[in-house]
Amino acid sequence: IKIGLLFGGRSGEHQVSIKSARAIATALETGENQEKYQVIPFYINPHGIWLEPEKSAQILASGTADDSQCQGSKWQFPSQCQEIQVWFPILHGPNGEDGTVQGLLTLMDAPFVGSGVLGSALGMDKIAMKNAFAIAQLPQVDYIAVTRDEVFSGPCVFPKKCDHIDETLGYPCFVKPANLGSSVGIAKANTRQQLEEALDMAAQYDTRIIVEAGVKAREVECAVLGNGQAKASVVGEISYDADFYDYETKYTDGKAQLIIPAQLPQNIVNKIQEMSLKAFHALNCQGLSRVDFFYVEETGEVLINEINTLPGFTALSMYPQLWEASGVKFADLVDTLIDLALN
Ligand code: ADP
Ligand code: DAL
Ligand code: MG
Repeated sequence: IKIGLLFGGRSGEHQVSIKSARAIATALETGENQEKYQVIPFYINPHGIWLEPEKSAQILASGTADDSQCQGSKWQFPSQCQEIQVWFPILHGPNGEDGTVQGLLTLMDAPFVGSGVLGSALGMDKIAMKNAFAIAQLPQVDYIAVTRDEVFSGPCVFPKKCDHIDETLGYPCFVKPANLGSSVGIAKANTRQQLEEALDMAAQYDTRIIVEAGVKAREVECAVLGNGQAKASVVGEISYDADFYDYETKYTDGKAQLIIPAQLPQNIVNKIQEMSLKAFHALNCQGLSRVDFFYVEETGEVLINEINTLPGFTALSMYPQLWEASGVKFADLVDTLIDLALN
């Protein structure tokens, strides 16, 4: 089976995607998978241009992003695309995890791993995602959605919105661009001034912004695998020594630890697994997702934070590690995901 491994992408998580793709390529090129699959890599460079397999393989081998080619039409895809039997898009963030690439592949009638247009788009946009969770009656923190225009369209609108946030959510609150990942553009505001600064920063990244009530809680995550009959993995916890799980903490070696399985009462584990599957289906997800939660130990509350439809997929990432701890080896996980895409 010829697998089109699509990686890189026009997003702030470009480098993470290269790492995820390296791990997946290795898993497909060793053991039993080696006899079954042929990996044909396609690198989408930071300008959005698709490179042909030979060049893409060099980038995959070196692990280094390459933005040297900025000329060329984005309409032109490498000719080898036509040979692909199933695609594995391992793109994180906008222009890849958000339904855009899924739309293209759907249009081309090409099977692919992961969620389709709807699930991907809903999972990416934090406002749409939280509204969908609310309809599914999944508990979550209070939030207010604002647009860039509402914040900056005139001198009277700006203080009014902030007053509303002040009164409704209080402090601390978290300000997030609606369509990013890896904590890029997210800030915690403890005061009115910090709130205004945070809105200003978020508006530089996105036209849609979400502000959430801050919660003091443990951060726990659960992996989902499957389509209609999807299963939930054991639950993992992230522990770190920082104010919140920001970009630096996520991607600096040693700054965050994954605890698998998380030390939690069994009823909480059950609740997290149930909520993960409910969230997965509420958003019409397919194949895989990692669902992230806040567990407020004092009250026993479990609040859903977000779903990631194409979660980090390096050998050390939470998603494959949760499955490893649930009895599914990395190589089998990748094999299963391809099977799910074809069935
Ligand atoms: P991303 O999609 O970039 O991962 P998240 O919404 O998961 O964005 O936020 C990143 C991190 O910020 C979380 O892992 C958590 O540490 C912190 N955080 C986000 N929202 C809240 C909140 N409402 N209360 C407390 N911490 C939060
Ligand atoms: N967005 C990153 C890759 C994750 O959720 O793992
Ligand atoms: Mg997150």
